[in-house]
Amino acid sequence: MSDFRIAPSILSADFARLGEEVRNVIDAGADWIHFDVMDNHYVPNLTFGPMVCQALRKHSRVPIDVHLMVQPVDALAQAFCQAGADLVSFHPEASAHVDRTLQLIKAEGKQAGLVFNPATPLDVLQYVIDKVDLILIMSVNPGFGGQSFIPSALRKIEQARKLIEQTGRDIRLEVDGGIKVDNIRRVADAGADTFVAGSAIFNQPEYKAVIDAMRAELAR
Ligand code: DX5
Ligand code: ZN
Repeated sequence: MSDFRIAPSILSADFARLGEEVRNVIDAGADWIHFDVMDNHYVPNLTFGPMVCQALRKHSRVPIDVHLMVQPVDALAQAFCQAGADLVSFHPEASAHVDRTLQLIKAEGKQAGLVFNPATPLDVLQYVIDKVDLILIMSVNPGFGGQSFIPSALRKIEQARKLIEQTGRDIRLEVDGGIKVDNIRRVADAGADTFVAGSAIFNQPEYKAVIDAMRAELAR
């Protein structure tokens, strides 16, 4: 049995029925719930904060994967840890002290991730990979759902997979942006094991049909 995880992004869900949407997508087979936090400062869009995470916590029996697109990072990272997040990831450019922010998340007993934009190199990992539980490669520029996959992300996924192998540790390699049924296999072949998908799932009436089709591709 493979260890692939599918993490639907509720950015593309119906915000007026968010609890129900979370329950429905979990019933459809979601492994994680991906929670995109945008602050209209680090990225040009605005979503939801720790209170919404806390409210959804009781509707989710799977891990909540918080993707912080905010600057500064530390106060909100801590607030999300306390609001029931299981994993908290941030962009290294947005933190004044990346090592400190990672330590802060770990000290809260949560898994910590670093997120790399399409034009951001993986260099910082050489200093902090021992504190990282998850590497998230952006395959779109952050801020909006429904964008097209940027192909150069594949090379970066391959690089990140090599770095993970060198550590010998169990670090998740997640990809976010433009993931669809017809490209998920190629992204897995590059080395990813965890897949965020927003519009591909929530813009279809049958979430289970999409998730099943993604799993079928991954099983090929
Ligand atoms: C973009 C977000 C993504 C986004 C993915 O800033 O981080 O999680 O919701 O959406 P799709 O799958 O529609 O590209
Ligand atoms: Zn995201």
